[in-house]
Amino acid sequence: MSHADEHEGTRRDFLYYATAGAGTVAAGAAAWPLINQMNPSADVAALSSIRVDISGVELGTQLTVKWRGKPVFIRRRTQDEIDAARAVKLDELVDARAENANLAPDAPATDENRAADETGEWLVMIGVCTHLGCVPLGGRSGDFGGWFCPCHGSHYDTAGRIRKGPAPRNLNIPVTRFDGDQAIVIG
Ligand code: FES
Repeated sequence: MSHADEHEGTRRDFLYYATAGAGTVAAGAAAWPLINQMNPSADVAALSSIRVDISGVELGTQLTVKWRGKPVFIRRRTQDEIDAARAVKLDELVDARAENANLAPDAPATDENRAADETGEWLVMIGVCTHLGCVPLGGRSGDFGGWFCPCHGSHYDTAGRIRKGPAPRNLNIPVTRFDGDQAIVIG
């Protein structure tokens, strides 16, 4: 093939490969252009609920995922963190409500009402400071060993409850459920 032929052939080759690709890659590939075309509504709908694999989350670490445009913290707490959160009395709290979308609006902010499971190992929260919306820092930060929002100095405890600083409410807990013991569905 001469150089000129090669050049002319570029578009034909591209069409050929594109067609072959569509034929062989089947349903998954066919669905993408459709979703893309319907952007952004389909995109938003697709994200209204997400399933997160938590099998790789080590004890004492946090996975941050994006859900409905916001960060969600999925923390696998150590026994120390759980014990610290469970030792706190309700009258020590700034916001005595659980702020947990899975419970009644007036459910008290006990650690049991904040954690995603009975042992308290998993804590799932929207990572948006309830003051003015910054993303708090994790990794056992702040005066209460939980999360710290550096924007104006809000300290959250190991259950994500506001303990000090200008934020008025505990970090919100989204609708969450376990899908087996290796995945969490948010939304
Ligand atoms: S936004 Fe977090 S303390 Fe102000």
